[in-house]
Amino acid sequence: MQIDIITVVPGLLEGPFSHSILKRAAEKNLLQVNIINLRTYTTYARAQVDDYPFGGGAGMVLMAEPLVNAIEALQKNTMYDDIIFLTPDGETFNQQMANSLSLKKNLMLICGHYKGIDHRVREHFITKEISIGDYVLSGGELAAAVLTDAIGRLIPGVLNDESSALSDSFQDNLLAPPVYTRPEVFREWKVPEVLLSGNHKLIEDWRHNQSMERTQKLRPDLLDKP
Ligand code: ADE
Repeated sequence: MQIDIITVVPGLLEGPFSHSILKRAAEKNLLQVNIINLRTYTTYARAQVDDYPFGGGAGMVLMAEPLVNAIEALQKNTMYDDIIFLTPDGETFNQQMANSLSLKKNLMLICGHYKGIDHRVREHFITKEISIGDYVLSGGELAAAVLTDAIGRLIPGVLNDESSALSDSFQDNLLAPPVYTRPEVFREWKVPEVLLSGNHKLIEDWRHNQSMERTQKLRPDLLDKP
């Protein structure tokens, strides 16, 4: 899978993909993340990419021209399944969306900045608009990193234990059960007996009950989802 991210702050995205699971995904050639600096696609002086909003108001707007130059240049080499704009007014990201995006081959992510991007780019190029939650970040970069992480770990072969993504919270609209590791007793706090029993059926039932109880208590809204 290839994920190309257009940004005016490439430095913000250099860290997240060079560690741990996403690093391994890149080394195994399962996921290639390319960070593209929008400023290399502007024809304006001093690498300008933003300007004041027509009609007045606070903040700057990313101009259509550099964005369209970048999108069209990338499209010459790659057929994108989706061109995604990260924005607080997009559809709220969730595990189902991560699952479905992880099946795509090529994605382009566009990070907004300042007040947003010229609306004509949204109308003519963007195929999906995604928010990572009801709060405003200073740009789309951290949201793009969240999306890439959530999608990347679902690509077959990226996680060592193939089944472990399936038992994540949210995969079946349930929160994950509690987990424990050694030692069995820490400061007199014991691991639940059933987990030490070696009885897989009992353990599975216990985990399912814990998931149901935790979901009921912490996220009852998930139980109403189809
Ligand atoms: N850009 C700014 N805030 C955002 C959010 N909540 N989700 C996605 N992109 C954003």
